[in-house]
Amino acid sequence: MAVGGVRYCKQHNRPSEKETLIMKILGISGSQRPDETSGVHMLVRTVLENTGCDYELVSLRGKNISGCSACLGCVEDNVCKIRDDAEPLRARILAADAYVIGAPNFFSTLNATTHAFLERWYQFRHQTADALWGKLAVVVGVGGDDGAPAAGPIEMFMLYSFIETVAKVTGQGAACCFTCGYGETCDVGAIRMMHGPDFKITPETTPSVAKQPDVMQAAADAGKLLGQRLTTGHDRAEVTKKVQKMMMDLFASST
Ligand SMILES: Cc1cc2nc3c(=O)[nH]c(=O)nc-3n(C[C@H](O)[C@H](O)[C@H](O)COP(=O)(O)O)c2cc1C
Repeated sequence: MAVGGVRYCKQHNRPSEKETLIMKILGISGSQRPDETSGVHMLVRTVLENTGCDYELVSLRGKNISGCSACLGCVEDNVCKIRDDAEPLRARILAADAYVIGAPNFFSTLNATTHAFLERWYQFRHQTADALWGKLAVVVGVGGDDGAPAAGPIEMFMLYSFIETVAKVTGQGAACCFTCGYGETCDVGAIRMMHGPDFKITPETTPSVAKQPDVMQAAADAGKLLGQRLTTGHDRAEVTKKVQKMMMDLFASST
């Protein structure tokens, strides 16, 4: 199915429906690791596969995406003027009914690649532009220790566009100290911090989200929930109202 020049992968087991009813989900993996070794990529893919909806999974790996430059060039027309690899993603963001967005935890927040990509969603916000309002999302975070510090800020980005996060999925991946070559001896690395001295790096002791059945189940459940929410009377106006209230409450409590 082509929407705005974008081709969405069709699920083989879909019932035949009018194309206009098919829900489209855009998945974003913000990891810079190869897709095969990225926990973020694996969880985002698992969520998508369980939605029963059409989806496209885009990896930000190797993409050249700068953050918002605050040039305000998007104020009149809601189109970002920075020419880089975020530009071709604009049509996909607009065409999607929902998002599955994942990032690794870098220094107790989401990594810069995903942050830069999400900053560019500023282009959709001006003059009461409602292109994203009331859409749905699942957010994913993976950390060598904890994925939650990456997932939380992604949910916040979604709130700014009045998008409801229906589920957060977090898991533990392998910190780079497992593969840097010095992990067992480095006094300040993640391995000493998490496991103390005398820890041996082996394939068995190296974390992976694939080895965490509860995390994989949470990803599958999140996908099913997102699919259900999208296909059973998703009312964007109602979701918008709910999320706008959440935002107002959030700002009111911080002032
Ligand atoms: C620069 C850098 C900083 C990191 N900081 C943290 C951190 O503060 N907390 C944490 O739990 N993991 C941290 N990690 C580990 C990653 O979150 C972990 O390797 C995760 O599996 C990456 O996800 P991916 O496999 O999808 O790339 C860091 C990794 C890098 C490269």
